[in-house]
Amino acid sequence: MNDILTGLDHHATLPALQQPIWPDAAEVLKVRAELAKQPPLVFAGEVDQLRNRLADAAAGKAFLLQGGDCAETFADATADRIRNRVKTLLQMAVVLTYGASMPVVKMGRMAGQFAKPRSSNDETRGEITLPAYRGDAVNGYDFTPESRANDPWRMLKAYNTSASTLNLIRAFTQGGFADLRSVHEWNRGFSENPANARYESLAKEIDRAIKFMAACGADFESLRTTEFYVSHEALLLDYERPMTRIDSRTGNPYDTSGHMVWIGERTRQLENAHVDFLSRVRNPIGVKLGPTTSVEDAKALIEKLDPQREPGRLTFITRMGAGKIREELPKLVEAVRDMGSQPLWITDPMHGNGITTKNGYKSRRFDDVMDEVRGFFEVHYAAGTIPGGIHIELTGDDVAECLGGSEKIDESTLEERYESLCDPRLNHSQSLELAFLVAESLTKN
Ligand code: TRP
Ligand code: MN
Repeated sequence: MNDILTGLDHHATLPALQQPIWPDAAEVLKVRAELAKQPPLVFAGEVDQLRNRLADAAAGKAFLLQGGDCAETFADATADRIRNRVKTLLQMAVVLTYGASMPVVKMGRMAGQFAKPRSSNDETRGEITLPAYRGDAVNGYDFTPESRANDPWRMLKAYNTSASTLNLIRAFTQGGFADLRSVHEWNRGFSENPANARYESLAKEIDRAIKFMAACGADFESLRTTEFYVSHEALLLDYERPMTRIDSRTGNPYDTSGHMVWIGERTRQLENAHVDFLSRVRNPIGVKLGPTTSVEDAKALIEKLDPQREPGRLTFITRMGAGKIREELPKLVEAVRDMGSQPLWITDPMHGNGITTKNGYKSRRFDDVMDEVRGFFEVHYAAGTIPGGIHIELTGDDVAECLGGSEKIDESTLEERYESLCDPRLNHSQSLELAFLVAESLTKN
């Protein structure tokens, strides 16, 4: 790869929403020059390999599991926390691999998820107004003028934190930690808990399958290691643009800040900078689609972002809400199907299901999350299209942010173990439960 600033900057004049107001433009240029000199976090060959894996998922031959924090923080980029998140994703992946009888593409919402879109530039508490928290890549969460000041040098820290996070992920998934047999042992801890008795029979089936493999002497390398990809929202163009490099082998630009990047509902306007940026990089890309998405929007995004209809190039991440998915999703998947296009469709059952509890917490009900996942499968089966994966906000830790699940987390428990600076995440056990429920419904199909 060439570490040069790419021609993508020529398009820097297009309107870009959700960008921080930086106090000093000259400092931003310095940071960008520094970022442009850093080694890429991912390699073009890996990105191309992921595109092939996602093509399989779009064709119904693999299933994508994408998950991680709503917002990563510098403070939480510790060995323990990263390990717990990877562990949770791997545990879910084993169950889903069995349920789907297909390879699961494992992808973290990790090593780059440091910037957040906000509804306002400012936040007011009492008499005091300060810049809104836009993620650790921009400013700090503490409500003081020093912490909330937007600081472009934080983007360099985001790069370094992403690099150390990704390094640990690579070590875990290549060095023996991700061995299928140990991941399965961890799952026994979950299914042997009396609260999860309902999942015991599925866990036993998986156990038998693994013992069968062992009895046959199956001891190949593929049981010991696993591919693991990283992804984040491509929000901060002052970060993503300098991380974009021309691959010396092919001459194509790759955003080397992550294997896959996506854009959200708030930045997916066709004529604006984010869509333009995504249209120019070779990475697999995602776009979030909410309940107000029109058929025309979806079609125009395909024309702009995937004009060649390249398998694995484009993922639509739908976030409709449990109460709306059965009404709003069919027309989109049918219209896209009828235009002969086959993007990868995955469900984000988190963002359409937010509630505020009586005691003032942003939360989500586990049952609503599951209901949206079920609706997603129903809609795709009815349309003859492919439900290719799930996108989940989760943590590997024992927090209490979402309501319900077999541990029956209630509103008062939120007061004890709520840690998220952003949206509420499924905790370790809720995440596994979701994987078991999805696997159950997959084995029935
Ligand atoms: N390599 C296979 C895969 O990635 C099997 C495997 C090894 C696996 N470790 C894993 C599957 C952990 C799920 C989770 O699918
Ligand atoms: Mn979120």
